[in-house]
Amino acid sequence: MALPSLAIPHRDAGDTNGVYAIEARDLNVYYGNFRAVKDINLKVHRRQITAFIGPSGCGKSTLLRAFNRMNELIPNARASGKVLFQGQNIYDPRVDPVEVRRRIGMVFQKPNPFPKSIYENVAWGARINGYLGNMDALVEQSLRRAALWDEVKDKLHQSGLSLSGGQQQRLCIARAIAVRPEIILMDEPASALDPIATLKIEELMRELSEEYTIIIVTHNMQQAARVSDFTAFLLMDEDRAGVLVEYGPTRQIFTRPKDKRTEDYITGRFG
Ligand SMILES: Nc1ncnc2c1ncn2[C@@H]1O[C@H](COP(=O)(O)OP(=O)(O)OP(=O)(O)O)[C@@H](O)[C@H]1O
Ligand SMILES: [Mg+2]
Repeated sequence: MALPSLAIPHRDAGDTNGVYAIEARDLNVYYGNFRAVKDINLKVHRRQITAFIGPSGCGKSTLLRAFNRMNELIPNARASGKVLFQGQNIYDPRVDPVEVRRRIGMVFQKPNPFPKSIYENVAWGARINGYLGNMDALVEQSLRRAALWDEVKDKLHQSGLSLSGGQQQRLCIARAIAVRPEIILMDEPASALDPIATLKIEELMRELSEEYTIIIVTHNMQQAARVSDFTAFLLMDEDRAGVLVEYGPTRQIFTRPKDKRTEDYITGRFG
């Protein structure tokens, strides 16, 4: 059994009118015997930006990786519970994790272009996915969507590593977009960048959220407040497992948090 609508090579195949893009249900992630995130229930809104915030070690990255089965690449890591995507549990043993990761892409903290040309960085994923369309057009379109085209159009065959940090991160975003994902997961995508490059990434995220569902992990509370529509606040419980304390519209979380612990965190009383 494959994920639904695989035969339709379009991002929006399936449930285009749904309010939610992906949902964690009673999700736990373990590293060996250690439970890093505990009993997470969370519905992520489609074509909105959702921020995961919380102190270091509370499980933000672990939870993020659970949304595209990336944790499975870590020895000893395993998940229980469900992550529902287009009505199907992505952890169903019959679902192909490679397919999951194509449709739910990821951008990491440190820009990680391949040591290949700018063009090849973008074309690579599409090529291994058997893309048969016009590659030049796909590369251009992806670079345009990542707000990088104008800066690189005259040097597409230079190494991706020759770009600045902020440009490299936008290249990684272009690479993620090129395989036409539905959801983009971003783990502190701007934390290695200077303030101007950071603002550029934030602006880009706002633009991309018109077409994509974005989940971002950020340490930076101002960034969460500026960029996201919804915020999930996580905290470690007494067993050091990450739990979801509060989740709601970003404005509400930052102005009228319901939980005292959220209030303490966003007002900088701890963390
Ligand atoms: N590969 C791993 N192997 C074993 N334990 C891990 C691994 N990655 C994370 N952990 C543990 O899982 C817990 C959650 O880690 P995670 O990296 O998800 O937190 P985080 O909220 O992203 O932290 P930070 O803000 O510092 O990035 C921590 O206790 C961490 O030590
Ligand atoms: Mg992290």
